[in-house]
Amino acid sequence: MQRPFPFETPITGDSLIDRRAELHQLHLAAVDGAHVRVAGPRRYGKTSLLLAHERSLSDTGWRTVHVDFYGVTSLAEVCARIATAYTRLKEHRVRSYVDALGSRLGFSLTTAGVGVTFGPQQAQPSQDATLTAAAELLDLPLRLFERDRRHTLVVFDEFQDLVSAGSTLDGLLRSHVQYHGDAATYIYAGSQPSLMRKLFTDRERPLYGQAEPLELGPLPLDEVLVDLSERFVALDADPGDALNPLVTIAAGHPQRTMLLAHLLHRELTMRQSGWTTLPEQQADADGLVLADAIVDLALNQTREAHQGIWDSLSSGKKAVLAALADGIRPTGTRATERAGITRAALQSALRELAREGQHVSRITTGTTASGYWRFTDPLFALWVTRRGRA
Ligand SMILES: Nc1ncnc2c1ncn2[C@@H]1O[C@H](COP(=O)(O)OP(=O)(O)OP(=O)(O)O)[C@@H](O)[C@H]1O
Ligand SMILES: [Mg+2]
Repeated sequence: MQRPFPFETPITGDSLIDRRAELHQLHLAAVDGAHVRVAGPRRYGKTSLLLAHERSLSDTGWRTVHVDFYGVTSLAEVCARIATAYTRLKEHRVRSYVDALGSRLGFSLTTAGVGVTFGPQQAQPSQDATLTAAAELLDLPLRLFERDRRHTLVVFDEFQDLVSAGSTLDGLLRSHVQYHGDAATYIYAGSQPSLMRKLFTDRERPLYGQAEPLELGPLPLDEVLVDLSERFVALDADPGDALNPLVTIAAGHPQRTMLLAHLLHRELTMRQSGWTTLPEQQADADGLVLADAIVDLALNQTREAHQGIWDSLSSGKKAVLAALADGIRPTGTRATERAGITRAALQSALRELAREGQHVSRITTGTTASGYWRFTDPLFALWVTRRGRA
């Protein structure tokens, strides 16, 4: 059953909030035959956006293939992911093509089409065999186009992991993709904005200048509020004055917005049968107090993840984030005094955080030319504010 406020997996239905401009840009690019690189922090809705785009293109006759490179470590695995993505099309012709390729090269698809196993005698396929498989799989859109003149959209999701699996794999990819002309357009999506930028804007990299950028920002709060209010009405649940502050706290972070809405809805549903998900003294809370209690639940649920991130940070980055969370200028005098670190060290930590694009981003407004820094994940910001406290 699909949750009314999905927050764990990419959205597969039509329940995307906003992202109309992004979908429009993707549509224009597809029609124009332009490749796009989509970058955004983790859990910002990249996959959900791309699934929606793929659905709308398939409705107009495109073949769409979604390859997820998450965690790949070798070229053989890369082949497996691509083959698996094609067999999801459930097209007989594609399946037989991949099967034929497999029997020639010594791998076979598992029955469910969810994986590829290499044959026993070739448990370790030779590098040559793997390279041939990769070449043929990458050229599949071309072969299919020659047969039926249908365009293919190929989405490479978690693209940065492809490059981690082999530093020359973007070169291999380019050597095929560049000859696909009308047959296929490509979307490269990744959750390390800095690495994505580097792969496509560094003159030394093979994919330099090969795709137009699309950076995902936060969701607009007014759209979020209208959409979520309508969903609560449709579910016959009344969030009262608790929804508005939660939407504000989530600050347009897509996954955090949905997590908070989910926890609020679950609490309201429980109350209907005389239960609560909150500590007993908060069982009747409403408005702001209820919103605060829901945020506490969310922090409880995500604490380990925040702790893991915090533990992995350098002391300079910790000092910058702590200052930011406490409302102090991250490289100002107070921050340097408190942390006992030089301003230069704080500045360098902030630059590094900004470059990575995972935890902080700079918001520029019409009134402030230089803008101000803010946390990408509002729950992480709260956790940092309360660090060490229950
Ligand atoms: N436009 C949106 N409207 C509503 N919810 C959204 C939207 N985009 C994302 N979400 C929420 O965020 C969650 C994460 O989305 P998704 O998996 O698409 O993000 P992602 O950027 O691909 O994440 P990851 O970095 O883990 O791959 C979804 O489960 C959903 O709850
Ligand atoms: Mg994703």
